[in-house]
Amino acid sequence: MVDVKFLCGILATLYMVNSVTGKPPNIVFILTDDQDSEIGGMTPMVKTKKLIANEGMTFDNMFVATPVCCPSRSSIFTGKYLHNHLAINNSVAGNCSSPDFQKTQEINAFPVFMKQQGYSTFFAGKYLNLYGEDTTGGVQHVPPGWDSWVGLVGNSVYYNYNLSINGTRETHGSNYTEDYLTDVIHRRGMEFLSYQNADTPFFMMLSTPACHEPWTSAPQYEDHFSDIVAQRTGSYNVHGKDKHWIIDQAITPIPNDTATYIDGIYRNRWRTLMSVEDMVEDVVSTLLKKFGLDNTYIFYSSDNGYHIGQFSLPMDKRNLYEFDVRVPLLVRGPGIRPRSVNKENVLNIDFAATFMDLAGATIPDYIDGRSIVPLLHDNAKLPFRQHFLTEYHGESARINPGCDQLDNQGIAWCHTYAHCQCEDAWNNTYTCIRYSDGQQHYKYCEIADNDNFVEMYDLESDPYEFMNIAKTADPDLVNQLKTNLAQLSQCVGASCHGNTELYGSNLLS
Ligand SMILES: *[C@@H]1O[C@H](CO)[C@@H](O)[C@H](O)[C@H]1NC(C)=O
Ligand SMILES: *[C@@H]1O[C@H](CO)[C@@H](O)[C@H](O)[C@H]1NC(C)=O
Ligand SMILES: *[C@@H]1O[C@H](CO)[C@@H](O)[C@H](O)[C@H]1NC(C)=O
Ligand SMILES: *[C@@H]1O[C@H](CO)[C@@H](O)[C@H](O)[C@H]1NC(C)=O
Ligand SMILES: *[C@@H]1O[C@H](CO)[C@@H](O)[C@H](O)[C@H]1NC(C)=O
Ligand SMILES: *[C@@H]1O[C@H](CO)[C@@H](O)[C@H](O)[C@H]1NC(C)=O
Ligand SMILES: *[C@@H]1O[C@H](CO)[C@@H](O)[C@H](O)[C@H]1NC(C)=O
Repeated sequence: MVDVKFLCGILATLYMVNSVTGKPPNIVFILTDDQDSEIGGMTPMVKTKKLIANEGMTFDNMFVATPVCCPSRSSIFTGKYLHNHLAINNSVAGNCSSPDFQKTQEINAFPVFMKQQGYSTFFAGKYLNLYGEDTTGGVQHVPPGWDSWVGLVGNSVYYNYNLSINGTRETHGSNYTEDYLTDVIHRRGMEFLSYQNADTPFFMMLSTPACHEPWTSAPQYEDHFSDIVAQRTGSYNVHGKDKHWIIDQAITPIPNDTATYIDGIYRNRWRTLMSVEDMVEDVVSTLLKKFGLDNTYIFYSSDNGYHIGQFSLPMDKRNLYEFDVRVPLLVRGPGIRPRSVNKENVLNIDFAATFMDLAGATIPDYIDGRSIVPLLHDNAKLPFRQHFLTEYHGESARINPGCDQLDNQGIAWCHTYAHCQCEDAWNNTYTCIRYSDGQQHYKYCEIADNDNFVEMYDLESDPYEFMNIAKTADPDLVNQLKTNLAQLSQCVGASCHGNTELYGSNLLS
């Protein structure tokens, strides 16, 4: 019998020698918007799974540190938890793409390091939700580190938008052939690849609007999946018992016209993803033809999860539950075993450190995340991460309980189906710690509302988070998690790594 572990060790060593003697690897990072991993978001991604997952590694436990677009993207670019990058919500006042964020965070974000390491760098698509607006520097502002910049002004849309092309405005209308944003990102990416040569490593980031609202698919995909409905598994249409107020006020059963409406949204999400499938296919085949794929890493992920009907909430993200905080992560590249599945806890704050590591940069000690390169090459010290944070600041003013969040943002779905459901409010503000050691898996959350509500779940026995055990669990365990949550909420750099070396090996014993 061949010793598989031994072979893997040799392979990992060979690849490391390769990367020392050869040039740094090319990196492609595909980031989708609002694509979940818990409610079937990856099911339609047949080509993506074939071309990336089957040729590389799938991470089963990939989480975002905060489940909403701008704060999550800020974590991706800076490698920091929300309490350190301070982009707390999707508004300029909350530092989404704000002048303060640009001055204090963006200047040290990972693209700057890629550039310093000699990479040719390219970005296309949605950046931070308020990028390019007058209040955030206009289209002239090109974030540092990018050689070639195709940045969407504002939040995800599919038609009728402005781009910043290296600081110059380009206006798009609604002609599919010319303007469909996912395809524009796709074509710009191909154009960038056509200029690359084998001597200079490149970093290419393609950041699609799919599958975010308003869910406009390409015309050729409009009729796909007509028999698909939102997944009825898990907590779909189950009333959340003993949960904080925003969950408690959901209507169960979900009214029929709302259920029909959100089934339509579910299908439309999948339809928008078909254009991402086409892009992935073209990227992989172009890379293969032009460079071969032996020195290129491809990462595929999303900025937050999503719910459609879970705990009877019609649709959105922003919650502390698995459906909103788990996202896909697929990685293909040299030294990664095909069809491998990794169960370690990895986070969106790990991208920055990972890209710096691959590029041979020294990872600054203020970075909260960790390089996952050792996991990719099967030579990491395990467990990789025993505990981590989720941090979220609820959006909206303290007026009009119910739908003010949706109204403030001008999100129309509140008015287009029968019942109007509040999906966020100022007091949906929380921090959670998640602890897992391979056997025990706990989530402990403190909600900053008028009740100081606490939720705790044993994810091993209760993966759908039906039973809040905050009042029934062993008080020592609850206190330990409470203490660790307080510590982790203040962490910086290494103290955020969440591995046992820093906290003692017997955290819960
Ligand atoms: C926004 O960022 C600046 C600079 O880091 C910080 O001083 C400020 O407190 C942040 N704002 C919020 C609302 O956290
Ligand atoms: C942006 O400018 C750089 C440097 O001149 C150029 O190589 C690149 O092609 C430009 N990008 C776009 C999208 O025009
Ligand atoms: C695009 O930019 C033009 C010029 O500033 C502006 O008039 C228009 O409203 C913008 N379009 C969108 C969809 O923001
Ligand atoms: C859309 O753009 C294509 C390609 O430029 C053009 O041939 C076509 O006439 C345009 N369609 C409309 C309705 O303007
Ligand atoms: C709602 O849908 C359910 C399941 O399809 C059905 O049994 C029920 O009669 C419907 N209710 C109304 C009021 O139409
Ligand atoms: C975002 O945070 C800032 C600073 O706390 C606050 O002023 C603003 O109202 C928040 N935005 C929303 C939509 O809640
Ligand atoms: C949360 O905020 C909403 C809107 O202001 C309010 O109606 C509700 O009573 C608050 N609940 C708690 C527990 O703080």
